[in-house]
Amino acid sequence: MERVKTGIEGLDEALGGGIPKGNVILISGSAGTGKTLIGLSFVYYGATKFNEPGIFISTDQTPEEIREQAKNFGWDLEDLEKKNLLRLYHIDVTTEKDMVYLKKLDKLVKKIKAKRIVVDSLTTVTEFLTPLEIRKGTKIFESLEALVPVPMSEAIIAKNVLIKIIKHLKKTGCTSIVTSELPEEGQWLSRDTCSEFLTDGVITLRPFKYARSDIDLLVVKLRYGNHSKDIHKILITEKGVEVKPAEKGVII
Ligand SMILES: Nc1ncnc2c1ncn2[C@@H]1O[C@H](COP(=O)(O)OP(=O)(O)OP(=O)(O)O)[C@@H](O)[C@H]1O
Ligand SMILES: [Mg+2]
Repeated sequence: MERVKTGIEGLDEALGGGIPKGNVILISGSAGTGKTLIGLSFVYYGATKFNEPGIFISTDQTPEEIREQAKNFGWDLEDLEKKNLLRLYHIDVTTEKDMVYLKKLDKLVKKIKAKRIVVDSLTTVTEFLTPLEIRKGTKIFESLEALVPVPMSEAIIAKNVLIKIIKHLKKTGCTSIVTSELPEEGQWLSRDTCSEFLTDGVITLRPFKYARSDIDLLVVKLRYGNHSKDIHKILITEKGVEVKPAEKGVII
């Protein structure tokens, strides 16, 4: 499968050359481990190194905040937006209705001929927009009930919403990164306990127990290709995110 380079030093090597084209990859990590920065790097380097337009969908941060975060690394997002190499799309979960954001996304993909999409974060989309879907008794809920004539819990509906989003991302033909919160304790690889099975690949970010500056990156799965099975360290500096080669034979 053709690989799409993230452009992040060391990450493409860990991914065995990059993200398989058209795949949806989950980046799951606890607070402050670099999920947003990896997603942002994916669209920033896509635009600047590979001339591939990208869309960055944020839920927790406004476009102004994302532009500000990027400035820390010397990245001028506004310039890329003017050149139609980037679109920042903020889903405001307090006002967004139903699943119109997927239709808006399609329009944006067409408009800038996007090749890369980031959804940051999937957790917010499913946790906050799903109850809205239920309350409004939208079509998706009605059609699901017609298929499964038993009362459905919010968790099941949230999973159906997740499936719908991931399928939709694949249909765009873009290569995508979605982010999820990862509880520091527990056996699941995402807060929703489901997206790790629905996505084509999973990368986890975990802070080392005693030092938060030390973050472990592991490519847990990649359905359509080989990848590193080792634990890598990630480094966030004013230059951006860097993934270190795994230290073989070191047991921590
Ligand atoms: N200029 C910088 N130099 C070094 N480290 C930085 C710099 N800017 C940000 N960081 C590190 O990056 C982290 C934030 O990364 P990011 O916003 O991508 O995390 P996140 O996983 O998306 O967090 P959240 O769960 O809050 O959304 C900070 O906690 C900080 O440790
Ligand atoms: Mg974030």
